[in-house]
This record gives sequence, C-alpha cells and structure tokens, in this order.
Amino acid sequence: MISDKMKPMMENSSVIRAMFEEGMKMAAVYGKENVYDFSLGNPNVPAPDCVKQAILDILEEEDSTFLHGYMPNAGYEDVRKAVADSLNRRFAMDYGPENIIMTVGAASGLNDILKTILNPEDEVLTFAPFFVEYASYVKNYDGELIVVSPDTETFQPNLEEFEKRICEKTKAVIVNTPNNPTGVVYSEETIRRMAEILERKSGETGHPIVLISDEPYRELVYDGVEVPFIPKFYKDTVVVYSYSKSLSLPGERIGYLAIPKSMTDWETVTAAATIAHRILGSVNAPSLMQRVIMRCVDATSDIGAYEKNRNLLYGSLKEYGFQCIRPEGAFYLFVKSPLEDEGEFCQVCKKHHILVVPGSSFFCPGYVRISYCVSHEQIQRSLPAFRAVAEECGLI
Ligand SMILES: Cc1ncc(COP(=O)(O)O)c(C=O)c1O
Repeated sequence: MISDKMKPMMENSSVIRAMFEEGMKMAAVYGKENVYDFSLGNPNVPAPDCVKQAILDILEEEDSTFLHGYMPNAGYEDVRKAVADSLNRRFAMDYGPENIIMTVGAASGLNDILKTILNPEDEVLTFAPFFVEYASYVKNYDGELIVVSPDTETFQPNLEEFEKRICEKTKAVIVNTPNNPTGVVYSEETIRRMAEILERKSGETGHPIVLISDEPYRELVYDGVEVPFIPKFYKDTVVVYSYSKSLSLPGERIGYLAIPKSMTDWETVTAAATIAHRILGSVNAPSLMQRVIMRCVDATSDIGAYEKNRNLLYGSLKEYGFQCIRPEGAFYLFVKSPLEDEGEFCQVCKKHHILVVPGSSFFCPGYVRISYCVSHEQIQRSLPAFRAVAEECGLI
C-alpha cells in the first residue's frame, strides 16, 4: 500500500523515538527517578510567564473571528512586522513584513524553502553531524543531501571538503548553529570563509547557491557567546527560525522564514515560498501562537537553567575521563564513545539506566549525543551511573 518513497524513510525512522519508548518501558520497570533519559531535545524549562499571560489576554481582548479565522498564508501582517522589527533591532537588518513567512516550526520552514527552490536531483550540502531529518526533507523534493565529513577536532564545518563538494548541481547548503548535536557555535571567521566560498562558487556555477540557516537554538548560548547573524555575511541566506526551543513551545509549532531583500529574486522566492507553505498543507502558521509571538517577540525561557545543567554535566563527564567539546550553545553534549562501537557504548549506558543517542543517527559514528534539557535533579541523580559507565569502560 505505501509508496516506494516512504519505505526507506520508515526503515530509517527515528532511533530517537524508539529510545523514547524504551525509556518509558524502563521507567515502568525501575521507577521514573531511576531512569536517566537524555535522548530527547524536548525543553524541560517551562515557557516564560509572558506566554501564558499573552494567551489569556489574547482570548479576552482579540476578536474571535479574527483570531480563529483564515488569514494570508504568510501569516498576520502585524506579527510579521513585529518579527521583522525585532530582527532589525537586534541585527541591524532591513526586513519588512513582506520578508517574513510565519511557519509551523523549523521543520515546516525547512520543507517550505526546500520545496520552493529544489528541482529533482539538485544537491543540498550539509555538515556532519547534523539533524538527521534534513535527509528526509531534501528527499521530499527529490533532491540529494550531500554530507561533508566532520572535523572532529573542533566540530566547525570542514570548509576544505565543502569547497570541493560544490558543483553545478549544488542548489543549497544547510547550516545549523548553535548546532544539534554538538552544541558548537560557528565562529564569525568560519561564516566569513563559508560566504567567500559560496560567492566564488555561485559565480563559477552561474547560479546562486542558497544558504539555509536553520537556527532554532539561536538564543540558547552561554558565557556571553555571540552567534553571527549569517545574512549579514552572505546575501542569499534564508533564516529558518523556530520558537520550539527559545520559548519552550515545541508542541505549538511556530516559527518563521526570513527571506532578505538582498536575496536574488527575493520577491519571487517569497511569493513561491508563501504558496509552497499553503500547498504543503500547512496553509498558515497556528493563529493563536502567532498572536503570542507578537506579544513575546523578544522573550526567551530561562536559558540560565540549561547553562547550569551544562556546567554540571560537562564538568562531571570530563572528571570521569570522557572526551567532549565544551558546548557553547543549544542543550547537547556530543561525547566521544570510549568503546570503538558507539552502539555497544549505548548498551553499557542503558545497563546503567542512561539513555543516549548514537552519533550514527547524526552521520557521525563514534560519538553519542546527550541532551541536557532535563531537570537539574535528573543530572545530579545520574552522576553515579555515569561514573559506573566510565569505570566499566576503563576510563577510571
Ligand atoms: C537543528 C534542528 N532543526 C530543526 C528542528 C525542528 O524544530 P521544530 O520543532 O521547530 O520543527 C530541530 C528540532 O529538534 C533541530 O534540532
């Protein structure tokens, strides 16, 4: 019954989801407090108070036909203006409401822009390790995802290989900074070099190469680190944003695309992306959440809570002998597997009731991802188990 295209997608489908179910089974057997599930990127910090207040106020104050009715496919004009103004204030840009399309989270934004620009067999480059859904999203439009191998010293993009892999067929590049799964923030130097390569290669191939900046973790940074705003460095950049992480609203499905005026044919691209949003079946982003964004446009949930988690978990794992880059953003640690086979290492962790995701799920075997968007107590409780894993793997 199902299509040939869906079959491989089902086979590859989500190790992370499977682990989530495994976690629930283990919790039923051993008790929830004795299972340390670090597999999901589901924010544990609550949405800020302004979100709840905005929902209550909107229901009281706004006309219900307006609130619950159909609207332009790109979203409410005043919401798009609020988003554009916020970006302009923070990054000295010149977006207007006409440059913003409200989306159903980043997943929808990525599908929207890929549908807008890809022809069959076009290539999209990305850097390992990466959010594995990119492969399915590109396949949705019969494109091909080309993966640039990781620089495991720094987990900054491997730009030498990147340059070599760009060819006539290259239509777009997806970058994600702060990065899932490494927590690395791409430096300004990296972005500048990437932009130079893309400009040169766009000239050589005779067509613009679109840089898609997938940035749901933009605000989740620590130690005062600055995340370079990529459209300032490369004119053909489309920002894909999501409030899933910054406002802890993943179930509400709200985000946006920002297509700048500097972009080649920006008016046509925006018109096409607006239609793509409709015909993908999303039609428009959820209306109540759009109104919430209008009122909470510069708010974030308590990022300090994640920083506290990072400090405890990173410090403890290093003390137990694990190797890991110190993440500057997002809420993940990407830890080198002390065993050659990271699947085996995941099994050792599981024996000690710790659930982590194998790096091969992000095209980077030999590592595991640990999501620390959990309660601080869970991290505290899990430390003896991590120590036991380190002992079993011969690290201490
Ligand atoms: C890098 C990255 N991109 C996109 C998404 C999808 O986010 P959303 O919930 O906004 O669809 C995620 C979710 O975890 C992610 O980590």
